Amino acid sequence: MKKVKLPLTVLFILIVSFEAISSKNSKPFQTTPWISPASACIIKSPLAGNTTAAPAGKLLYVKYCVVCHGNAGKGDGVAAPALAIPPADHSSVKVQSETDGSLYWKITTGRGAMASYKSTLTDQQRWQLVSYIRTLAAVKKIK
Ligand code: HEC
Repeated sequence: MKKVKLPLTVLFILIVSFEAISSKNSKPFQTTPWISPASACIIKSPLAGNTTAAPAGKLLYVKYCVVCHGNAGKGDGVAAPALAIPPADHSSVKVQSETDGSLYWKITTGRGAMASYKSTLTDQQRWQLVSYIRTLAAVKKIK
């Protein structure tokens, strides 16, 4: 038995050290900008102008999103410090300058710690969340 164990131990150490080296050298893919496809960005919200959408979205946001994105969407939820890539700040100009279609696509698709909500939430609920995210803008649009 001893004869088998030694080569196995050596193999194990080799695999573990290889993993450690390769994960140090490879950039985590999340550090690259997250860009929605143009075909998704041009999609208009079916709930545009619907005044009940944002309040409905708020209820969903509190239930599903606040844990990471925080109460005001600033990316400072209780789970945020544990994440390698910080949750997006939904009040930021960067997020607010994205189209409704782009935000909807990201909520639908997900990336890394940001899960896909395609099967958890209905299309309507995901658009309601987009409507609510608009109310979180730090710099409000003057209409
Ligand atoms: C487990 C933590 C977590 C939860 C829960 C979560 N998110 Fe995220 N979210 C993230 C992280 C991390 C990112 C950044 C992902 C990246 O850039 O790779 C992100 C990014 C986003 C973005 C993209 C912002 C941008 O412009 O790039 C949107 C939109 C978003 N989240 C919406 C939501 C909504 C809506 C919910 C609730 C239904 C939610 N998130 C729940 C962690 C979370």
